[in-house]
Amino acid sequence: MTTENPLDPLLALMRAHFATAATAAASAESARVLAALPGPGASLAVPLTDSAHPLLAEVPEAARAAGAGWAAELPPLAARLPWRYSYAPRPDAPGLETRMAWAELVGPAAPIRSDAVGFGLTFITRGTFYPLHRHPAVELYAVVAGESEWTLEGETRLRRPGDFILHPSGALHAMRAFAAPLLAIYSWSGDIVSPTAYV
Ligand SMILES: [Fe+2]
Repeated sequence: MTTENPLDPLLALMRAHFATAATAAASAESARVLAALPGPGASLAVPLTDSAHPLLAEVPEAARAAGAGWAAELPPLAARLPWRYSYAPRPDAPGLETRMAWAELVGPAAPIRSDAVGFGLTFITRGTFYPLHRHPAVELYAVVAGESEWTLEGETRLRRPGDFILHPSGALHAMRAFAAPLLAIYSWSGDIVSPTAYV
């Protein structure tokens, strides 16, 4: 007997969006990640559990901005996604853990197990700055909703839904959400086990 994976409709949206990367570097990385993802119907290694993360209050707005498919699929599932924030507290950003988080859907410790790639959603509530950080993993982001400011190795650019941002291994990066919450898809490849760290 096969069990329907409740993440499949959302993962289908994420895969479809991730496949639209246009630049050579982003499309090469997205193709690598998409090829490594387990297919639809992959079983859940850990069950989904209820979350009460404060960012959930802004998810419906971001999902509406992202389009009909996201508006239909994301809000009903959002409170069952594994939202996580793994940094130690920062004196210069009190309460940051209540204003941003990521939900890894595929990865070494995610509901859908993969030792090759991480694939999930990052959510940053309006007006929130995610400070400079780095990690050994190669990271590809796809902005789904929210005009935002992205810094990579000292260069800051405005990014909009549809944009892709590739963070090479070890590169310093930061993001800031403006008046609307930022919803983005991310992938990790390469060394996906070593943690991310603030600088
Ligand atoms: Fe990152």
